[in-house]
Amino acid sequence: MRQHVNPLSKNFNEIEYIPSLMEIFGDSELNLHLDIGSAAGEFLFDLALVNTCWNYLGIEIRERLVKTAKLKVKEREMKNLYFLFGSANNILNDIQNKFIIENVKSISFNFPDPWFKKRHIKRRVIQPEFINILSNSLQKGSLIFIKTDVKDLFDYMDFIISSNFNFKTIDIKNFNYSKSFNPNKVKTSREKYVIVNQLDIFERIYMKI
Ligand SMILES: C[S@@+](CC[C@H](N)C(=O)[O-])C[C@H]1O[C@@H](n2cnc3c(N)ncnc32)[C@H](O)[C@@H]1O
Repeated sequence: MRQHVNPLSKNFNEIEYIPSLMEIFGDSELNLHLDIGSAAGEFLFDLALVNTCWNYLGIEIRERLVKTAKLKVKEREMKNLYFLFGSANNILNDIQNKFIIENVKSISFNFPDPWFKKRHIKRRVIQPEFINILSNSLQKGSLIFIKTDVKDLFDYMDFIISSNFNFKTIDIKNFNYSKSFNPNKVKTSREKYVIVNQLDIFERIYMKI
């Protein structure tokens, strides 16, 4: 399977219809977490099975992974987990889908693709325009979590989010995970690999103020 998909390809201009939160989840009033670049969704399955008082939504650009994850949700009859296929930027830039950002309590960007080459930086999921959209529509107090093993990518993401005056950095050492979307600090697939290989992890949490 191809690992990297160009999110700027016109293949992703067409966005799938997204039902309302009431249609998607068993209880749409629960806190909603959005994971961007959810891959096969293992992280969200682990979270959603245990934390049934949260709803989880994953966006992933590799269609086959999303199809398989959707089937698994159906088979397991899970009512607090949903996956969307497409480029997160296109989906969330679309005015019709504004309700997603307006309703999330937190968003995670876990180990996003680094797109190392300078000419490919526009393919990174975190872009100033995208962070502006989040900053305009997120509720105050909503959180953004970023995590990566690539220091340059961390510095880039941190610069873009910190440059937006609507976000402030949270002290991660004193952060109370028990009330977050991830009370048991479940690890993503990439994170497990990074830990086994003793690579560094760079992470930060921001709050919309
Ligand atoms: C390195 S993987 C990390 C997967 C997972 N978050 C983890 O930590 O194990 C990055 C994922 O983000 C997806 N992705 C990259 N750009 C995306 C975009 N613009 N919208 C949605 N998904 C994207 C990739 O297809 C890939 O599955």
